[in-house]
Amino acid sequence: MPKIIVDKNLCTRCNICTTVCIMGIIEKSTDSGFPSTNEEKKDYCLKCGHCESFCAQKALTLDFLLEEKINTTPLDGQIEPHNLALYIKKRRSARHFNSKPVSKELISQIIDVARYAPSGGNSQPVKWLVIHNRSEVKRIAGLTVDWMRTIQNTSHPLAPYVSHIISMWDNGVDLISNNAPHLLFAHIPHTEPICDPTEAVIAMTHFDIAAPSFGLGTCWAGFIKMATDEYKPLQDALSLPNDRKAACAMMFGYSSYKVESIPRRNRLDITWG
Ligand SMILES: Cc1cc2nc3c(=O)[nH]c(=O)nc-3n(C[C@H](O)[C@H](O)[C@H](O)COP(=O)(O)O)c2cc1C
Repeated sequence: MPKIIVDKNLCTRCNICTTVCIMGIIEKSTDSGFPSTNEEKKDYCLKCGHCESFCAQKALTLDFLLEEKINTTPLDGQIEPHNLALYIKKRRSARHFNSKPVSKELISQIIDVARYAPSGGNSQPVKWLVIHNRSEVKRIAGLTVDWMRTIQNTSHPLAPYVSHIISMWDNGVDLISNNAPHLLFAHIPHTEPICDPTEAVIAMTHFDIAAPSFGLGTCWAGFIKMATDEYKPLQDALSLPNDRKAACAMMFGYSSYKVESIPRRNRLDITWG
């Protein structure tokens, strides 16, 4: 388990690191000593890095993946609230993509943003599968339609909706992947009965929100996700390890159209307790 490295020339012994450590691992500094990791408790470290993130003096480093430490200045990452609100409100589902593929480098950059998404106990359970090949995306869409054919005329809750999608597919219109060039799956450990998609959905939402600022359009792939849950041929096509399960899916690519205005939504419904 990591220890903290304290730069004694910078540390002011403010003890914020002790305060923000949710596991209570960092011993307070004293008149004669600097903050330190409690030897008995250090195995409980979540590696959340709050000790160093909240150190105003940048005196503290968690001794873990040191080469990845990102130092920020106070202005880095500051977004004026009005602009941030407009940016998020402007996010729309993209269903028309141009033919230009997105480079693996750019995709990796966006997924890297999602790596910083919150997770219970900093467990970071999410891993990613990128279907980069357009014809493979189409094959997955086709398998989703095959799954829809199996639930047509059954009591499945989606049954009333699938006939239209199937008939459109048979007439060359893809309402499943919307001809997206790429498909992203967030997958999580699958150890029955625990398989909580929360972290995957949060991480995918990070991707969804980050993507437009990198010039991309996205759309949640709900039909594909549902088929992935239920249809073995599609599970086989994804070839995830046996102990992993796709928790959510997203289509993405360069959008054909720009978002020109923000649509209306239901009024806010807040109950104050
Ligand atoms: C869980 C989820 C699943 C979705 N599945 C699909 C889908 O399979 N195909 C699709 O075209 N849009 C899908 N959408 C997009 C919604 O239709 C879209 O978010 C909604 O109509 C509002 O439009 P907006 O995202 O532009 O605000 C999905 C959205 C969510 C959140």
